[in-house]
Amino acid sequence: MIELRDLGQGDVERLFQWRQEPDVDHWLFESPPSDRARHTAWFDAFLCDPDRRGWIILQSGAPCGFLHLVGLTSSQKRAHWKWYIGEPVARGRGAGRAAQALGLDLAFSSFGLQKVWSEVHAGNEPALRAQAAAGFRREGYLRRHSYKAGVYRDVVLLGLLEEEWRARRGVVLHELAVSGLIAAT
Ligand SMILES: CC(C)(COP(=O)(O)OP(=O)(O)OC[C@H]1O[C@@H](n2cnc3c(N)ncnc32)[C@H](O)[C@@H]1OP(=O)(O)O)[C@@H](O)C(=O)NCCC(=O)NCCS
Repeated sequence: MIELRDLGQGDVERLFQWRQEPDVDHWLFESPPSDRARHTAWFDAFLCDPDRRGWIILQSGAPCGFLHLVGLTSSQKRAHWKWYIGEPVARGRGAGRAAQALGLDLAFSSFGLQKVWSEVHAGNEPALRAQAAAGFRREGYLRRHSYKAGVYRDVVLLGLLEEEWRARRGVVLHELAVSGLIAAT
């Protein structure tokens, strides 16, 4: 069963470890923090920043990933979606899709957003497939838009409007509940 809980002070080391995971780092845009002091500074700033909100993804009660929204104080009423499953054994088993549905419900019901958007490296099939399943639409393709570790990569822009999620959420949540990934709604 997948659930979300608020990010808390006790998660600082967990996020540091997950962020070093090669299969996570490969798909994220920035390099991981080089030392704990930098990471802790980022983490402490995150926790008291009203523009950002983070949740730990729980699988059967155990932390397995992190998702967060950025841009919550913007007058644009849209937020940037960022996420990863940090525990390698939890990837590819539906935790991402389930956490995404729970996170989108929070995003649209708690923060008055009209849109959630994300940028995904081309070739990141798990992310692209999971986001398409929730109803995200492709809004752009940016060539050679990302540069990391000496490599340029293309980036896919995705967006999901509030009414698109409202229209889709019933089916998505039902399928996840039938699969035992979330509690019945
Ligand atoms: C992207 C991510 C959050 C998705 O979570 P997940 O739990 O692994 O994904 P799910 O099991 O929910 O599967 C999502 C979809 O990807 C597919 N998928 C899963 N693993 C895959 C793989 N290795 N190759 C291709 N497709 C894959 C699933 O079949 C599913 O597609 P479907 O709904 O059409 O069947 C997770 O893989 C991850 O953290 N990856 C590394 C970091 C990252 O890429 N973060 C996102 C940056 S934008």
